[in-house]
Amino acid sequence: MAQKHITLSRWLIEQERSHGHIPASLRLLIEQVARACKRISRTVNRAANSGALGTLGSENVQGEVQKQLDVIANEVLLEANEWGGHLAAMASEELETIHTIPHRYPRGEYLLMFDPLDGSSNIEVNITIGTIFSVLHLPDGVGTVRAEHFLQPGRQQVAAGYCTYGPQTTLVLTLGHGVAMFTLDVEDSGFVLIKEDVTIPREAREFAINMSNMRHWDAPVRRYIDECLAGRDGPRGKDFNMRWVASMVADVHRVLERGGVFLYPWDRREPDRPGKLRLLYEANPMALLVEQAGGQALAGAERILDIVPTSLHQRAAVMLGSSDEVERLGRYHREANGVE
Ligand code: AHG
Ligand code: MN
Ligand code: MN
Repeated sequence: MAQKHITLSRWLIEQERSHGHIPASLRLLIEQVARACKRISRTVNRAANSGALGTLGSENVQGEVQKQLDVIANEVLLEANEWGGHLAAMASEELETIHTIPHRYPRGEYLLMFDPLDGSSNIEVNITIGTIFSVLHLPDGVGTVRAEHFLQPGRQQVAAGYCTYGPQTTLVLTLGHGVAMFTLDVEDSGFVLIKEDVTIPREAREFAINMSNMRHWDAPVRRYIDECLAGRDGPRGKDFNMRWVASMVADVHRVLERGGVFLYPWDRREPDRPGKLRLLYEANPMALLVEQAGGQALAGAERILDIVPTSLHQRAAVMLGSSDEVERLGRYHREANGVE
């Protein structure tokens, strides 16, 4: 029997029609984001031949050196999503301030946030990179859209997802009713459903963390990793495996596919900063996906999706993945705080 061929458009229409999970405007917005990801995917594929590799000599608002592809991906997303009429404004890791929709286009009811290109350090070495996005509702009754309207806790996201540019281009999406995965079929250049109801196994024997920062970690993270490293002879009584791609999209994708934990904790290198990863563009969308797949996502003792943001480019500590493991990490943090 021929395999059922469900395109992203068809899947989204079914989410709208039969399940009532989304309104038409959100469906069209997601389709637009997916089209932008397709363009970024093509640009990434051709980057070595078209001269789009390397840095630009500029820095973004975070003080990070911008790569050509960071800037190109940002422009593709802005351009693709400006005119559709579904958005009121966008915010990007690569932009200092929010990007409101120009007056020549109709204004919609949603806010879009993105990390245009995640894993920039992997661009030149041809390792998986990606785009992460998150959608919020513009609060009712807002006249002029300002940055403060983006400062909603992550649990209020109406959609979130990412696209990986790796051996395959894969789009992973949640509308708040489970997680679905699509891969780009380059023959007919469309996203096709490969998996629904993605579920992260509760238990795992795999962790992802940048071990070179070990000496800077706080006690609960050190305790957790020490116990994993002690393996079969330690308190966990089993051996663990380690992976670190250094592209959050790729590391989180592995966690969604086969379980495990991904950690980018607070550390002593910059004690005033809550973490390295950005709450609005990285931590929140990934936390929603992971929770929707049955996993957990904490920033320490606290659930990531409950953090009330105070600024656009705010950072957060991130510990997400298999429920039992993240729960244990949360307990170690609470014990260190003297709560348990
Ligand atoms: P970005 O490329 O958007 O700046 O994000 C990079 C992030 C994330 O993708 C990854 O998990 C982490 O930085 C890697 O950090 P280290 O270089 O410290 O390992
Ligand atoms: Mn990133
Ligand atoms: Mn980025």
